[in-house]
Amino acid sequence: MLRLERLAEGHSAELLRFETENRAFFARSVRDRGDEYFARFDERHAALLEEQRAGVCHFHVLVGEDGRVVGRFNLFDVADGTAELGFRVGEASAGRGVAKQGVRLVIALARDSYGLERLTADAEVRNGASRAVLRATGFVEVGDAVRSGQPCIRHELDLSAPLL
Ligand SMILES: CC(C)(COP(=O)(O)OP(=O)(O)OC[C@H]1O[C@@H](n2cnc3c(N)ncnc32)[C@H](O)[C@@H]1OP(=O)(O)O)[C@@H](O)C(=O)NCCC(=O)NCCS
Repeated sequence: MLRLERLAEGHSAELLRFETENRAFFARSVRDRGDEYFARFDERHAALLEEQRAGVCHFHVLVGEDGRVVGRFNLFDVADGTAELGFRVGEASAGRGVAKQGVRLVIALARDSYGLERLTADAEVRNGASRAVLRATGFVEVGDAVRSGQPCIRHELDLSAPLL
């Protein structure tokens, strides 16, 4: 069974393993984080926790029974009842519904624990898997966007509607 945990200091080493092992896999569909991210991982981790304490973000890891991180499901730019969703699932767990499961869990938290009313998410046009995950979890396409120079589709989810 997988569980979604709010990001904490103790996740640091396992998260670094997850990002390092999946670096090449993620870089095939989203922008690479760059060498600096890996070299200064602890500083970055502390900064994320500070942002989370300030209430502008809610970060989560999806963890297996063995304690290994299999995915990340994050809410950014929390303001006025809305937040932006970002997620990634490691290569070893790909294609088994893990992203859909994690997105559903973070949607429930957003609505029931964080009191949010709406989520947004941008998926690159070419990222069929990401778009499929958003569609399956109730997001609807609302327009175009550009992220890191790549054409994206903007998605929204109304959290007052029944969850899928
Ligand atoms: C995208 C990502 C999160 C998917 O994770 P996952 O656990 O494999 O996803 P799931 O198994 O829950 O669902 C994937 C869905 O996409 C579909 N899919 C996979 N590749 C696809 C493609 N090229 N085109 C269309 N649909 C595709 C699958 O069939 C599945 O849908 P289905 O169950 O209805 O058949 C993962 O590959 C990842 O982290 N990639 C790198 C980072 C990234 O792209 N993050 C999203 C940024 S918004």
